[in-house]
Amino acid sequence: MASKPAALLQDIESSPAEVSLAGRDLCSVADLTTVELAGILELAHDVKTNPATYRWALDAKQMVMFFEKASLRTRLTFETAMNTLGGSAMFVDQTQSPLGERESLADIARNVERWVSAIVLRTYAHETITEMAQYASVPVINALSDIEHPCQAIADFMTLEERFGNLRGFNFTYVGDGNNVCHSLMLTGALLGAHCTVGTPKNYAPKADIVAQARAIANVTGSNIALVNDPIAAVTGADAVYTDICTSMGFEHEATKRAPIFKPYQVNEALMSQAAPAAVFMHCLPAHRNAEVTDAVFDGPQSVVFDQAENRMHAQKALLLMLLGKGGNRSDGSSR
Ligand code: CP
Ligand code: NVA
Repeated sequence: MASKPAALLQDIESSPAEVSLAGRDLCSVADLTTVELAGILELAHDVKTNPATYRWALDAKQMVMFFEKASLRTRLTFETAMNTLGGSAMFVDQTQSPLGERESLADIARNVERWVSAIVLRTYAHETITEMAQYASVPVINALSDIEHPCQAIADFMTLEERFGNLRGFNFTYVGDGNNVCHSLMLTGALLGAHCTVGTPKNYAPKADIVAQARAIANVTGSNIALVNDPIAAVTGADAVYTDICTSMGFEHEATKRAPIFKPYQVNEALMSQAAPAAVFMHCLPAHRNAEVTDAVFDGPQSVVFDQAENRMHAQKALLLMLLGKGGNRSDGSSR
């Protein structure tokens, strides 16, 4: 199934409760409109508050997860999400043999769609996910590629909504590598009308085409996407300061080269003190303690990193409910 073209922003003022995502893929955050993202987030908050309402919503549904890279959070939160909605999740470890090597992606899709209701992929090449989405008749979900990590970003902005409410005009800052996580955060922030400032070393800026996509969305939602190289300028006045590891999976051979380049971008107490007094510290995890973030910040009172990790499960429950067309019976009696 092909994913939708990027950043459809129609119906920006319509009600999230009317959103249907049944049968759709999630390859990129840009597959979603503002109102569709709001619909997922609204359901995620309800699922978190009223889990019993959704206990059997995906009764007997099957989901398969093919992972080419290691995972703790994404694997376990998808499995717990599916299991506690009444369905089952099967995990296939592809870390030793990339998808498409033994059998073409098209043939995998044509087999798997006969057995399961959703396919979750963690890959190196983003195209592995978009290709699978093109061939499979069931929803395909990006659980991290070299270009994006949409499920992470949705859970992260759910965490921010819990703390701060509506995020229009919110000042979100990312410092560090302009990588997959950074890309999905920029797109999500733009869709929600949050201002996003990204502070990276010169050769580690986010990809120009994703920045352009985020800016096109931001033009409609009234937010601003700024790229800077000075970490202090990036963090000054921020309501949230987010970082990720300097060396993502697949780039391990660059770790020694990267360490000194990213040192000035370490989130420590001095850098955090430039942010707004009520600012939160965020990280997708796993963290390399005392590399991109110090223990004092990671374990400090501003850190919301484990709320983010918890919300991965709630947000993915909402996503599965909506893609599998079962987001209909809400705890407040409304339906979609
Ligand atoms: N944040 C995240 O995706 O964690 P894992 O790599 O452990 O899944
Ligand atoms: N940017 C990191 C995120 C891990 C969840 C990576 O791709 O390794």
